[in-house]
Amino acid sequence: MNGDSPSFHLTPNLKHVAIIMDGNGRWVTERGLNRFKGHVKGTEIAELIIEECVRCQVPYLTMFAFSTENWSRPKREVDFLFALLEKHLNEKGNKLVEKNIRVETIGDISRLPSSLQRSIQKLKDKSQSNTGLTLIFGLNYGGRNEIVRSILKVLNSPALAEELKTTLDETRFSELLDTAQWPDPDLIIRTSGEERISNFMIWQMAYSEFYFSKLLWPDFTIEELHRAFQVYTQRQRRFGQVQDIATTAATDMDISL
Ligand code: FPP
Repeated sequence: MNGDSPSFHLTPNLKHVAIIMDGNGRWVTERGLNRFKGHVKGTEIAELIIEECVRCQVPYLTMFAFSTENWSRPKREVDFLFALLEKHLNEKGNKLVEKNIRVETIGDISRLPSSLQRSIQKLKDKSQSNTGLTLIFGLNYGGRNEIVRSILKVLNSPALAEELKTTLDETRFSELLDTAQWPDPDLIIRTSGEERISNFMIWQMAYSEFYFSKLLWPDFTIEELHRAFQVYTQRQRRFGQVQDIATTAATDMDISL
């Protein structure tokens, strides 16, 4: 692979890839290592996958880094995760900016340590005019929490509540969510063999395609990312419609009950 030339030609309808990075803990258990080492390795893999998404010209990439449920982990692990993320953003942030990446977040980041919040804000500001990959980190993110926060936003703003009485529909509701500016994910990848959603983008995933990889996140590879893209291209997305209205119309419409 050389430079930023595409190493996989994406179909134009794959705009937003979202990843639930799972399995850091199991990866260390298998090796008898300290649990934290799994997160360090997981961060290296995240960096690799971000770079590959830039090369493949993916327009939007969301990475679920810390969920609203992750607070229930031991405090030492939570502190370590935040410190790791802050270190990573401080050390690698400029590289992201140079790669024309725009950094964004979803989730309530006001609960994160203030130094991490500052690092995030600095990177968002620096990368705001970038036009390449939009990289969205899910931080203190949970789909239910996002919906509740959007309703609170309405309740706390009489003007907004009044406006919504006449304008609220699915599109307008989407605009109240953290993801308002971006398209819904086309492809959601979850690693580690677990086939569940874990409160991730529950509104936005209404018509997403899923790829469940058996690999633990620290074992995830560029080849496996390409496999997920390849599988996606073979899926027929019908969005609730019939596949070929032209061929079904003449026969099916004739049936009388
Ligand atoms: C799940 O593994 C992973 C997380 C809790 C998220 C942490 C992710 C990273 C450290 C990589 C993110 C880095 C960047 C730069 C976005 P787990 O601990 O739940 O694994 P287990 O289910 O096997 O215990």
